[in-house]
Amino acid sequence: MSLPTRVRIVDVGPRDGLQNEKQPVPAAAKVELVRRLQDAGLREIEVTSYVSPKWVPQMADNHEVMSGIERRAGVRYSVLTPNLKGFEAALADRPDEIVVFGAASEAFSQKNINCSIAESIERFAPVVQAARAAGIAVRGAMSCTVGCPYEGEIAPEKVGYLAGLMKGIGVERVDVADTIGVGTPRKVQAALQATLQHFELDQVSGHFHDTYGQALSNTLAALQMGVWNHQSSVAGLGGCPYAKGATGNVSTEDLVYLLQGMGIDTGIDLDKLIDAGQYISDVLGRKPNSRVATAVLNKRAA
Ligand code: HMG
Ligand code: MG
Repeated sequence: MSLPTRVRIVDVGPRDGLQNEKQPVPAAAKVELVRRLQDAGLREIEVTSYVSPKWVPQMADNHEVMSGIERRAGVRYSVLTPNLKGFEAALADRPDEIVVFGAASEAFSQKNINCSIAESIERFAPVVQAARAAGIAVRGAMSCTVGCPYEGEIAPEKVGYLAGLMKGIGVERVDVADTIGVGTPRKVQAALQATLQHFELDQVSGHFHDTYGQALSNTLAALQMGVWNHQSSVAGLGGCPYAKGATGNVSTEDLVYLLQGMGIDTGIDLDKLIDAGQYISDVLGRKPNSRVATAVLNKRAA
């Protein structure tokens, strides 16, 4: 078994984590969260999304947040842009990477972005083209690669089909997302395998929600395939507004603990990361949704 020696983590907490919060989170708190994440050693942070404020009110402060963060050299700040309108708004805020987001399931595509998979690709194509012309990196998120809240189990062929479409329009790397956290290792491996028919290993990330508590097992299964890009959310924040009952991504704290314990380099300071998770959890008035953070915080208190 040969595992990667290092893992690059994108913390998606400020975006995927907070987008589902009902209570408005002040832009200043989002800015502070980003600062704390970069202080903890995160080199990729998904900051916000340029989507309809009617659909996702929590992300309506995208400009305020992007212009409020203190940008550091060597850190990649990414944002979601579903269409040209979103891209044009994002462009003014100079993201390092934009993310177009599609789904392997037709029903989820309709619920999430109000169009079919084919229509989504038509909308993404000019966004990808404009981003690349502007020297901005392009990532593609693929939702429901294992299961869909509306269609149930998703065949790997559907994932491969979407990955091929993403590749065809010039997306540089993709996220294999288990949106509702129903995956188990072999199913996740099949989704990754289907994606690897179209993208190089270095261009494929795991994005696992932890709804059924399988995200770490699925991460290990992905590592065993050599997948070394992973996404997680500080304090396990999150869920998707269009996937009822789905909880957050695997917490970054749990992921880092796993990787550190296996001798895999992440460049992240776990203690500072736990502080960042506690900070945003305090803002939200709850405890971090991370086993590792809970254990460490209990130990600190004792
Ligand atoms: P639509 O209604 O089909 O769009 O929405 P439209 O082009 O017909 O426009 C309708 C209205 O929206 C117009 O305003 C537009 O100006 C406005 P009105 O004239 O009614 O006042 N509009 C926009 N406003 C701001 N920014 C924009 C934008 N585009 C149109 N970019 C749309 C289509 C995609 C915009 C909508 O469906 C939407 O915003 N959906 C939200 C999707 C979303 O954010 N989902 C959560 C993120 S994805 C996710 O979490 C999954 C992921 O984590 C991976 C995983 O875990 O699976 C990535
Ligand atoms: Mg997600």
